Amino acid sequence: MVKETMVEINPRRILSYRDFNIYGHFIEHFHRQIYGGIFQPESPFSDEQGFRTDVIDALKNIRTPILRWPGGCFVSNYHWEDGVGTRTPFFDKAWRVEEPNTFGTDEYIEFCRKIQAQPYICTNAGTGTAEEMSNWVEYCNLKNEGKYAKMRIENGNRDPFNVKYWSIGNENYGSWEIGAKEKTEWGRLVVESAKMMKRVDPKIELLAASISDLDWNINLLKEAGQFLDWISIHGYWDALHEVDEPSSYESCMVYTMKIEEQILKTKYILGSLGYLNKIKIAFDEWNLRGWHHPNVHRGDILADNIIEARDRNDLNATYTMADAIFNACFLNLCLKHSDIVGMANFAPIVNTRGAVFTHDEGILLRSTYFVFELYTKHMGDTVVDSWVSEADVFEVSHNGSTYQVPSLDMIATTNTGSNDLRISIVNRHPEQARTVRIKKNVSYGTGTIYSLISASKDGFNDISQLDCKIIQETVAAHESNDLVLEVQPHSVNVLVLH
Ligand code: AHR
Repeated sequence: MVKETMVEINPRRILSYRDFNIYGHFIEHFHRQIYGGIFQPESPFSDEQGFRTDVIDALKNIRTPILRWPGGCFVSNYHWEDGVGTRTPFFDKAWRVEEPNTFGTDEYIEFCRKIQAQPYICTNAGTGTAEEMSNWVEYCNLKNEGKYAKMRIENGNRDPFNVKYWSIGNENYGSWEIGAKEKTEWGRLVVESAKMMKRVDPKIELLAASISDLDWNINLLKEAGQFLDWISIHGYWDALHEVDEPSSYESCMVYTMKIEEQILKTKYILGSLGYLNKIKIAFDEWNLRGWHHPNVHRGDILADNIIEARDRNDLNATYTMADAIFNACFLNLCLKHSDIVGMANFAPIVNTRGAVFTHDEGILLRSTYFVFELYTKHMGDTVVDSWVSEADVFEVSHNGSTYQVPSLDMIATTNTGSNDLRISIVNRHPEQARTVRIKKNVSYGTGTIYSLISASKDGFNDISQLDCKIIQETVAAHESNDLVLEVQPHSVNVLVLH
C-alpha cells in the first residue's frame, strides 16, 4: 500500500514573489570550467570567438538569468587588467596552475550576451585594492571618461558593458583564501571599496563576501551596510575537497535538511542589525558536492598529482538522483524564502560539479541540469500558501546520528496574472512511491505533471548511459474530487494545473 500524504493549497494567500535570479549560475577559472568548458577555440563545437555553441544552447535552454565570474578562490589573486588588451599569463596561486588570461572581461561579457544572462563580476579583495576594483567598474561601465573606459574602447568595445552586479571579495573570512581578512579590517576594506565603486557608477548593486556569522556581519554592516544591496553566502554540503568519497543517497537526503539553517541565521542577523528591508541574500555559490582539489589550501604538503586529482570531478557517476533531489530541495527553499533570498548561483554550471559536462563528442546533461529545466520552465513567480498534513518520514543514520527525513518536500506557486497552479513535489524516499492527495478546494480542469525520474536512486547520466530523464503525463483534475496522483521514489515533479 502506497502511503498517502494530504496537501492543502490556498492560491489566494500570496506569501512572496520569486526573483528569477535564484536560478543563476557561477563559473570559475578552475579545472575545465572556462578552458575546455565554455571557451575552447580548438573545438569543432565552438564558434568563431571560441565559445562552445552546444554549451551556449544548453544554458539558454534553462534560461540562465545571471552568471557570476571569475571566482571563487581564483579571484583573490586575479588582476583584471592582465585579462584585457595584451594578455599576460600569470601563475594562479589559488589553484597553482598557469592562467593564460585568453578569457578575460571582454570574452566574459560576450559570453553573457550569447547566453542572454546578466553579468555578475566578483572582484579581488584578496591581493586587490579598492582602486583596482573601481577601475574595473570604470572599464565596464563608463562611456568614455578616463583611462579605463578608453582602454575598453581601444580593445574594441565602444559601448559600456553596463555590469549591474558587483561583489567585493570572495570568502575573505576563510583562512584558505589568499588575502584573508580579519572581521574588523573587512568592514573597512568593503566600505572604502564600495565608496569608490559607487562613485564610478551609482547604479551598480553591491554584494560583499559574508557568512552566517554574527561577528563578521556586525563589523561588515556597521561599516558598509549603507552601501550594500546584498550579502553573499556559500554552501557545499558533501565535503569532497580533500577526499573524493561521495556520500550515499540517504546521507544526501540528510543534507537537504541542513540548507535552511544558513538562510534563517543570515536573515535573523540582517534583521537584528536593521537591514532586513535593505539587504538581500545572494546564495552565490551552492552545490551539494564540494569541488575536489586536494592539498591546495595546505601549501606545506607537497603531494604528488594534486592537479591531476581534480579530474575526479569529471566522474559522471558521482552525480545521481541525490544531486537532483538536493537541487530541487534547495530551490524550494529559495522559493520559500524568496522574501530575503533574491539570487542563487549553482557552483559551477559547466564541468567540475556542474550540470553540463563537456567532452570531445559534445556535451552531457547531468541529473541536476533537468531540475533547472523543470523549474525555469514550469514553476511560477508567486509563492502561495500550501501545507502538508500527515507527512511521513523515513529514518537515516548519518555520521553517528539518526535523522527523521520527511519523504515529501513541496511548494506551490502561481504566475502573476494567471489562474494556473504550479506545484513542486519532491519525493526524497529512496525506495517508495508516494500518493499525494490535493484537497478539492483547488478546482482545475486539466493538468500536466513533469517528472525527473531514474530507475535507481543512484542512477546517473554518462556518455554511454542516460538514466535520468524527464517524462510528462496528463492529470485529470475534477472540481468535485480531490486530485490524487502518485510520485515515484527519488523523483522531482512539477505539477501544472490550468
Ligand atoms: O571549491 C571551490 C571553492 O569553494 C571556490 O573557489 C570558493 O569560492 C569556495 O571556497
